[in-house]
Amino acid sequence: MKTADRLNNFDAYLGTAMNLILTKMRAEGKDVINLGLGDPDVMPTKMMRETLADACMDPGNHHYPSFYSPMPLKEAMAAWYKKNYNVTCDSDTEVLPLLGSADGLFHIHTCLLDPGDIALVPDPCYPAYVAGVTIAGGKIETLPLLEKNGFLPDLEAIEPAIAERAKMIWVNYPNNPTSAHAPDDFYPRLIEWAHKYNVAVISDNPYSEICFDCYRPQSFLQFDGAKEIGIEFNSLSKAYNSCGWRTGMVLGNPDIIAGMAKIKSHSDRGMFYPLQVAAREALEGPTEFMAERNRMFQDRRDVVVNALEKMDIKLYRPKATFYVWARVPEGVEISKDWCFKVLDEIAVWMIPGSMYGQYGEGFFRIALTHPTDRLAEAMNRLGNFLTGS
Ligand SMILES: Cc1ncc(COP(=O)(O)O)c(C=O)c1O
Repeated sequence: MKTADRLNNFDAYLGTAMNLILTKMRAEGKDVINLGLGDPDVMPTKMMRETLADACMDPGNHHYPSFYSPMPLKEAMAAWYKKNYNVTCDSDTEVLPLLGSADGLFHIHTCLLDPGDIALVPDPCYPAYVAGVTIAGGKIETLPLLEKNGFLPDLEAIEPAIAERAKMIWVNYPNNPTSAHAPDDFYPRLIEWAHKYNVAVISDNPYSEICFDCYRPQSFLQFDGAKEIGIEFNSLSKAYNSCGWRTGMVLGNPDIIAGMAKIKSHSDRGMFYPLQVAAREALEGPTEFMAERNRMFQDRRDVVVNALEKMDIKLYRPKATFYVWARVPEGVEISKDWCFKVLDEIAVWMIPGSMYGQYGEGFFRIALTHPTDRLAEAMNRLGNFLTGS
C-alpha cells in the first residue's frame, strides 16, 4: 500500500526504535543503562494515585468527556498559572486541556500554518516541532542554538524578509535537549520582536518545575504583551511525575486556543474523566514533593557532571531540566557513531546531539532518570571506555 508522500519528509520518533534495540540487548542478557529516555523513575504522589483510582470507580466517569464535562479542570489550570506566574487567563477562552503537551504541539502547526508558510524552529530541538511543521506542509527556517549565545536564538540574525513571512516561532526554556534556561531579558526581547513582525510565539515549558540552585524558571506569559502574540504549553508529565497520564495544557491567545479547540473537537474526545479529577487535585494540591524531587535530580546532576568533568568532557552544570548536555570527547567527529559505539561496548545509551538537529552535532544528552548509584555505574563504565581500561 502506498502511503502519502509527506511521510517521507520526516523521521519517526527516535525513542520508539531505540526502545526496541535496548529491549533486544536486555533479552540477550546485557545490563543496559538507558540514559536516553526523558521519563524518570519517579511516580505521582499517593494522593494523586488514590484520587485517580477513586475517580475510576465512579460509574459516571466513563463517558465521552467532552460531551458531559462538568469538571473544572480549566479553572484549575488557570489558577495554577496565576499562583505560579501571576498570569491571568480566562478559563473559558484562554485555557485548553491537552492529552499531554505533545497533543498540542503537534496540532499547533495545523492550526497556524497553511502550506508553504514559514515556521522558525530552533536547532537542536524537541523533534516533534520539525515533524509537526513538515506534516502541516509548512516550511522550516532554522534558528541555530549556539553555545556562544547560551543556546538562545539570535533574534537579530533573523533576516527581516524571513521574519516578515514567518507565522510562528518555537521557543522552549528550560530547554530540551541543551538544558539551557532563558535569562531575564529574553522574553521581553522576544515579545517585542514578535509584535514587530506579527509572528506567533509558541512557548513549550514542560520543565518549568524541574529546577535547582534556587533558580526558578519563568513563563513566557508572565511578560507584558505575551498573550496578544502567543501561547504556552505546559504539562503535568514532568512537574507531577506523571508522564504516562497524558495530562497537559495550553494557555494564552484566545484566537489560537479557539483554533486548537476546533481541531481537537475532531481529533479526540477530551481527557479521561478520572484523569481530569486527579489532575485538578494535583494542580490545587500540595507541592512540597517537588522540592524533594528536585533535590534528588540535583544530586544526580552533580554525580554525572562531576564525573564528566573528571573525564575532561566540556559541559555546563544545568540549573533546570533533568538533562545534561555535553560535548563529545575531543577527536570524536560524529556523535551518532560515538554513542552507538559506547552502547555496543559498555551498554550505556546516551542520545547523540545530531538526533536533535544539525547544530546538535558535537554534543550528547544524558537523562538523569536513574538513581545515583546507577548513574555512577554508567559514568564509571564511560570513564573506563575513554581511558581504554
Ligand atoms: C521539550 C518537550 N516538549 C514537550 C514534551 C512532551 O511532554 P508531554 O508528556 O506533556 O506530552 C517533552 C517530553 O519529553 C519535551 O521534552
